[in-house]
Order: sequence, then C-alpha cells, then structure tokens
Amino acid sequence: NPLNSAEYVLAAHLPRQLPPDGGREVAFAGRSNAGKSSALNAMAGHNKLARTSKTPGRTQQLVYFRVRPERWLVDLPGYGYAKVPPDLRAHWQSFINGYFRDREALVGLVVVMDVRHPLREFDQQMLAYAHARALPAHCILTKADKLSRGAQQSTLLQVRRQLQADYGEHVTAQLFSSSSKLGVDELRSVVAGWLDL
Ligand code: GTP
Ligand code: MG
Repeated sequence: NPLNSAEYVLAAHLPRQLPPDGGREVAFAGRSNAGKSSALNAMAGHNKLARTSKTPGRTQQLVYFRVRPERWLVDLPGYGYAKVPPDLRAHWQSFINGYFRDREALVGLVVVMDVRHPLREFDQQMLAYAHARALPAHCILTKADKLSRGAQQSTLLQVRRQLQADYGEHVTAQLFSSSSKLGVDELRSVVAGWLDL
C-alpha cells in the first residue's frame, strides 16, 4: 500500500497556513458526516490518522497528511452542516473557493457521498469547481454497508449515468465502505495514480 506512509503534518485555518503550493495533492471533500476522515483512514490503512466523529462538523480545518515529500492528502472540512454559525460558514466558503481556484498542487478531487444521499447540491458544486479547472474527480459512495447489494448497485448505476451526462469521462464513481473495506483498493489505485506514486 503506497499510501500507508501518510502522516499528519498540519491543520490550516487560514490560506497562509497551507504548505507551499508545490508538489501534488489530492483533496477529500464531502458533506459533513459523509465519512471523509474514515475513508482517508481506510485508504491509508491507519485507524487513527484522521479524526472521525459521530458529531457532524468534526473536521474544521484543511488537514494535511504527507505521504512522501511533496505528496499530500488533504481532508477538507465538511459542507452542508446546518448548525455552523453564518460568519464561520462565510469564512469557509471563501477559503474553500480560493483553494479550488488557486491551488496548483491540487491534482485530483475525491468527493465522498453517503450512498443513501448521493449528488446533493454541495456535491454538485464541488464537481463543478473541479470541472471548471479540468481537474479529475472520483466519487466514492460510502457507507455502502448500510444498503443491500442490489440497492448499492442500482445507486451506483444511477450516479454513473448522471455523472456521465454532466461531466463525460472526467468524473468516475465507485462503491465504498470504511467498515467492510469495500472498494478500498480501487480508491487507493485512483489516488496513488494521481499522486504519481
Ligand atoms: P466531518 O469531518 O464532520 O465533516 O465528517 P466526516 O465526513 O469526516 O465523517 P467521519 O469519517 O468522521 O464519519 C462520520 C460517521 O460515520 C462516524 O460515526 C463514522 O464511524 C461513520 N462512518 C464513516 N464511514 C462509514 C462506513 O463506511 N460505514 C458505516 N456504517 N459508518 C461509517
Ligand atoms: Mg472529518
């Protein structure tokens, strides 16, 4: 597993706290509580790399993990969490907008969605950001363990059809479960490829 060397380096509240904009990084985005941090941990093969929580809104900064020199994984704060105060929400919106617009090291986006609630408004917005700068995106439909095999497959087909219509070949999708480890190898190979590992 080329990603199991990942280690925590820093958490940025402000754009100037980000590491220098060089090398390659892959960001994990998704609605609050979708399972971003759990997916990062499963992919890296560490239980406690990124902090996870039952409470939505746990990850409040851009958290950087280094895989190798100049190769990074980034855990983005979750979006769509209703209880965040409006001024904090506005701060995050502008930080994240700027990050997507300017970050040259960003080579790929993983959009983490609960398989039971795929392609909601904010997910579409993240995909649109990626599309606007021709960045490849990969959607993981996580918590697949919560649905039957049949329901998992029909959701996957529906999501793929929608993505194909909106974005063509630039956006891919797969099933995932941090609990059962379904799809972990598939995610790893996409991310390792983007990071050129
Ligand atoms: P924020 O940082 O708050 O935005 O959340 P997050 O997207 O990082 O979610 P996190 O990984 O912390 O997981 C949220 C909750 O979902 C936790 O209680 C996890 O244990 C649970 N969870 C995550 N992935 C899975 C999964 O694949 N299956 C199941 N059953 N539960 C999961
Ligand atoms: Mg998190």
